[in-house]
Amino acid sequence: MQQPDPNPHPAWQEADSQIFLDYGSYFVPDREQQIETLSMLIPPHFDTQPFTALDLCCGAGLLSKAILDRFTHSHVYGLDGSQTMLDQARSALAAYGDRFRTVHFDLTAQEWRHTLPPAQAIVSSLAIHHLDDEQKQHLFRDLFAMLAPGGMLAIADVIAPASAQGTVVAAAAWVGQCSGVRATSMERQMLLRLSNGSGGICTATPMMATSPRA
Ligand SMILES: C[S@@+](CC[C@H](N)C(=O)[O-])C[C@H]1O[C@@H](n2cnc3c(N)ncnc32)[C@H](O)[C@@H]1O
Repeated sequence: MQQPDPNPHPAWQEADSQIFLDYGSYFVPDREQQIETLSMLIPPHFDTQPFTALDLCCGAGLLSKAILDRFTHSHVYGLDGSQTMLDQARSALAAYGDRFRTVHFDLTAQEWRHTLPPAQAIVSSLAIHHLDDEQKQHLFRDLFAMLAPGGMLAIADVIAPASAQGTVVAAAAWVGQCSGVRATSMERQMLLRLSNGSGGICTATPMMATSPRA
């Protein structure tokens, strides 16, 4: 007898990958700056020495590419759960040969946390928010264990503001950045009404975290 699918509606589906590939550069504010900032957080002494980086949920490989370009001795594992994304990343970064490898993985699973080589850099952009609070805590603990001595973790992601007013400010900034205009006072009032009680507006507040491990 067929077992029921425990996760019939995964948070991210293949169709989402195509939408993100087609429109991500429009609805993610300051995309290039975000990628550039993450790659700049990798310490400059890696300019001259080989190191391994893991790009968790690498998507089409934009961040992996920035690392490969900036650090010519780097080897990057691009991990993702979407075959569409992995195919795109592999094809876009084919010129880097065996410096870039793709790995099909589930961010929520355990196995990859014990099978990959120790990494000097673990990076991720716009993906860890798919986990709930408890999953994030386990992930951060496991990533710490996966880092080589002196390794670092850098994340850029959306976070929920701590208050309804913070949600309005972030949502207004996002509207402004996407459209190139500032949200009017009336639009801010509307956003405030929308966010009241539900806190459900999706905002795009970037979060950067870097934790050097001695
Ligand atoms: C918004 S995209 C970001 C892609 C890339 N990091 C970037 O910044 O362009 C989110 C990515 O996370 C991946 N993803 C989401 N949930 C995942 C999961 N549970 N396991 C593996 N990959 C997942 C998706 O396939 C997608 O490539």
